[in-house]
Formats: sequence, structure tokens, C-alpha cells
Amino acid sequence: MSLFNIIRSLKNVPSSLGKLRHEVRTLKRMIEKLPRELSRAGGVLDAGVAPSANLVPTVPEVQWTAYIQFLTWVNGGMLTRGNVDCFAHAMEFMPEGLPVLEIGSFCGLSANLISLFKRKYGRNVPLFCCDPWISVWAKDSTIIEGSPGFELSEFRVFIKETCLRNVSFFSSDDRPHMFETDSDSFFRDWEARQTHSDLFGRDASFGGMFAFAYIDGDHEYDQAKKDFINVDRWLAPGGFVLFDDSSGGHDGSTAVAQEVKAHANYELVAANPNLFFRKRR
Ligand SMILES: C[S@@+](CC[C@H](N)C(=O)[O-])C[C@H]1O[C@@H](n2cnc3c(N)ncnc32)[C@H](O)[C@@H]1O
Repeated sequence: MSLFNIIRSLKNVPSSLGKLRHEVRTLKRMIEKLPRELSRAGGVLDAGVAPSANLVPTVPEVQWTAYIQFLTWVNGGMLTRGNVDCFAHAMEFMPEGLPVLEIGSFCGLSANLISLFKRKYGRNVPLFCCDPWISVWAKDSTIIEGSPGFELSEFRVFIKETCLRNVSFFSSDDRPHMFETDSDSFFRDWEARQTHSDLFGRDASFGGMFAFAYIDGDHEYDQAKKDFINVDRWLAPGGFVLFDDSSGGHDGSTAVAQEVKAHANYELVAANPNLFFRKRR
């Protein structure tokens, strides 16, 4: 190489270094975005790819529209915002043509949000909800301290009626099938494959696989575990399950979700912060 050529190539070194730096930065950004892109594509982090400590699997954040804001103001509930992202993801990517299940509806907020994303993604499938509207903190005849003097049994009726009113208004086009029953009884009836009349007096056929289950009933370990065992039995491969209060919010649901994390048939889609899984097989 002539001296002239050597000097010319040396002059190009800074620009080549600049280009290299740019390439490295682009590559770094692409790697950072990878989990989100995978989720968007309906996939999850490949089990073969060990996520680094700061690479928490996630799902895309739902755009907090005026309607969602309004709904969450008006409709009482105890919902973590990250659950809403999981509902959206499940409704977008769950298997076709199968119903959805919610264990524990309280005042209907989560049911209304699930219905919203069912509408958004054109999922013309029923949402089944079961809740006995019982209290874990007191007996029915207990007068609620600080109240004008009503008993828990009356409060229970108020919550149930509020729930029915909320879903009738916010999901008027697609009211969920609501059943006043605990999850164990619900699954017993589900297995018997009969027709049951819901709280709106409409007949619903029981039996078959679900595409998504939201476990938000009794959070104690024994019941949350039973709920998962039943859900596992009826959840289709490719279907999703979300555990409320499973990232430390409650010891019971957290322990069950950790067991599911180690289950070979389930892959973690998101820790948002609650644990959200997809069934592999
Ligand atoms: C945390 S609240 C549900 C909140 C609701 N999913 C929301 O986000 O708006 C829990 C509900 O689970 C119900 N519940 C308690 N034990 C249950 C059981 N074994 N089966 C079904 N629901 C149950 C309670 O009555 C209560 O309404």
C-alpha cells in the first residue's frame, strides 16, 4: 500500500469508529426491546433464553383512554394497573372460540375491563364469573363498625347488586354470565356440563375449555391452589392465566404463582407485577 493510501485510510478511521458506535447502540436498543416485541407477537420469552436480572418479562402497556379512566373512577374495585395490560394481552392472543373465566368479581371492575378488551379484539365468547360475595373478615351478622348500623350480610347484598348494575351498564352489549357461587361449586357444576341460569336469568351451557382465567377469589394458599388445579384442568393449551396479588400482595396467591412458575407446562409471560402465564400444553 502506498503512503498516500495509508494516510487516506487513517483519515477514515474516526468515521468508521463513529459508525461502529452507532451500530452498537442500535443493537443494544434492539436487544432491550426484544421481550416487548416478543410479547406483542403473541409469544413469550423463549425458555431457552435466560432473562438477565433486569430483563423482567412484560406485556405492552395499555393506552389509558378516557373511557378506562372513567370506568375505574366509577366502578369500585381493587385492581392493579398491570393486570389491565395482561387482560388486553390475553384477549388479543388467546385461543379462538373459547370462553373466559373470572374467579372473584367483587363490584365488576375487572369483569368490565375484560369485556372491554373482548370487544376491542372481537372476541365473541362468553365471560363466566363466579363470586359468592362472602367476606373473609367477619361473620354475616356482624355490624360493621363505623357504618350507620348495617350488618355484613346487607353489605354483601349491596356489593352484589352494585356488581350487577356495573356490568349491566358498562358491558351492556356483552353482559358476563355471573353466578353467585364459590369457585369449587362453580367447577363442580362446570364438570357436570349442564345448563345453568345466571344472575340475569339467562341460560348458559357449562363444560369445555377456557381460553383465559383470572384467579382473584380467596387468596389463601389452599383455595388459590385449588383454583389453579381446577383452572389447569380446563385451560386450553395456548390459554392464559393471571393470578391477582401474586407478587407479594398476598402470601397464598404468591406461593401458588411461584409453583406455577416452576411448572413445566407453563411459561411466564409477564410479572407486571402479578404473575401472568401461558399454558404450553
Ligand atoms: C379482590 S376481590 C375481586 C376484585 C375484582 N376481581 C376486581 O378486580 O374488581 C375478591 C372477591 O373474591 C370473592 N371470593 C372469595 N372467595 C371466593 C371463592 N372461593 N370463589 C369465588 N370468589 C370468591 C369475594 O367475595 C370478593 O368479591
